[in-house]
Amino acid sequence: MQKMDSSLAPNPPHFVVQLSATRRGARLARLLAERQLDDWGVPPGEAVQIVAELAANAVLHGRVPGRDFRLALRMLPGGTLRIEVTDARGDRVPRLPDPAPEGAETGRGLCLVAAYADRWGVDEGPAPAKTVWAEVSPGRGRT
Ligand SMILES: Nc1ncnc2c1ncn2[C@@H]1O[C@H](COP(=O)(O)OP(=O)(O)O)[C@@H](O)[C@H]1O
Ligand SMILES: [Mg+2]
Repeated sequence: MQKMDSSLAPNPPHFVVQLSATRRGARLARLLAERQLDDWGVPPGEAVQIVAELAANAVLHGRVPGRDFRLALRMLPGGTLRIEVTDARGDRVPRLPDPAPEGAETGRGLCLVAAYADRWGVDEGPAPAKTVWAEVSPGRGRT
């Protein structure tokens, strides 16, 4: 972990952390998101699962040796949580896969993100980066 600047949080609240593109980095992303959402009083639930899937993808599919990935969490006006995961593989952009066959161990991550998020997408650039993002409304009509 190189940098954490939640203490500099302006308005609206946001949290940014840069992590190594390793399984450990992905695990840290999930744990730090859990802690930050708890600090903000946001129910973690699906939001943390989205962070876990996007971080896992960043270190598996978006990894460039020696380059970190970045997790950002932002509370938008109206209580929407925006999750952003930026990696260094701007040349590979994920698309929603066909539904995974039952029992498949892979190819579920983005389906889960699409199911849990109100909106999600990919912002390309600035080169060589891209950002996969998702917006959720924690607690609204969910358990
Ligand atoms: N951050 C990423 N960078 C590049 N490709 C990605 C990224 N995230 C997902 N993908 C592509 O989208 C596919 C579907 O992702 P996902 O649903 O999480 O399935 P899985 O990770 O199990 O393959 C991946 O197999 C990969 O080809
Ligand atoms: Mg995945």
